[in-house]
Amino acid sequence: MSHEIIAIDGPAGSGKSTVARAVADSLGWSFLDTGAMYRAVTCEAVFRGIDINDQNAVGDLARSATISTTPRVCVNGRDVEEEIRSEPINVAVSVVAANSQVRESMVARQREMANEQTRGTVVEGRDITTVVFPNATLKVYLTASLEERSRRRGEEGVESVARRDQADFTRETSPLRQADDALVLDTTGRSIEDVVGEIIQCLKNITSS
Ligand code: DC
Repeated sequence: MSHEIIAIDGPAGSGKSTVARAVADSLGWSFLDTGAMYRAVTCEAVFRGIDINDQNAVGDLARSATISTTPRVCVNGRDVEEEIRSEPINVAVSVVAANSQVRESMVARQREMANEQTRGTVVEGRDITTVVFPNATLKVYLTASLEERSRRRGEEGVESVARRDQADFTRETSPLRQADDALVLDTTGRSIEDVVGEIIQCLKNITSS
């Protein structure tokens, strides 16, 4: 069983999902979008009318929910693939992701999910290089200018992306930060192929040394 991990962190719109998916496809590894898990918990809380500020209620929900992210994002058997990207969820997810009970449950699941894979896994999120897999084979921090990141997020808009950045960088529990030994890539003006190529080359350098 291989537990090789490429961990990728970075702010909203930095290209994490697209790049992580492409790296996984190219290596024949699995891919885990951990943001989708926090979004799925948020959808379920809203669906059940739970106050997202009630940390214990949302914590209970996170611990008991069944969550899958492939082929589509589902929570407790309900397909939320489209709903997780809606504006109300973009706003509410920052509160849910700051809940330490939710984080504890998601981190445990993410480690289990990666360990179940027979090949390697590319995992992307905000705390993957620092908390979830600090010993990953390769750690990458992707970034890009706020303008470019907002453009990539389309309808979400610059204010919403900036507000989420602020919440992700300043929250008490596992704030987004660069791991000291991460490969830092600014994707502003760079093509996906170029960034994916650099990550795969870096992995080859690590595994052949
Ligand atoms: O990557 P995304 O935009 O889908 O993430 C949604 C939110 O979830 C984001 O505001 C930060 C949070 N998140 C997190 O706190 N930790 C992760 N590992 C992944 C996402």
